[in-house]
Amino acid sequence: MSGRWVWLIPALLLAPAAHALTGDVARGEKLHEKCLNCHGTRLYEPDKRKIKSLKALRKDVKRWGTYYAPALSDQEVEDITAWLNEKFYKF
Ligand code: HEC
Repeated sequence: MSGRWVWLIPALLLAPAAHALTGDVARGEKLHEKCLNCHGTRLYEPDKRKIKSLKALRKDVKRWGTYYAPALSDQEVEDITAWLNEKFYKF
């Protein structure tokens, strides 16, 4: 293989995913264990939740993330958001 086509392959691999969430669901579930010190997952159920959008969910996870020292990193916030969305919110 030669010529300019060689450059097309890495360009496609590096293209950002169209999906809104980039978090790792399995990691998110594990990271969420520490949140269980305060509350279970009951408040994420449809009849209890107050959060109405993916944007608000990410913001709230970030807000709770600052409760810890060190605070959750952006990637950890993404991972937990991805897990919460897949398991409960389904936005
Ligand atoms: C210090 C106790 C405490 C800790 C620690 C805590 N939470 Fe919470 N969380 C609450 C309380 C109390 C509420 C309900 C009232 C509110 O929203 O302020 C809540 C509400 C939420 C909600 C909103 C649910 C809804 O749809 O109404 C989300 C999402 C959430 N917490 C995620 C997390 C995550 C993720 C973590 C861990 C990174 C975490 N919380 C850690 C106390 C806590």
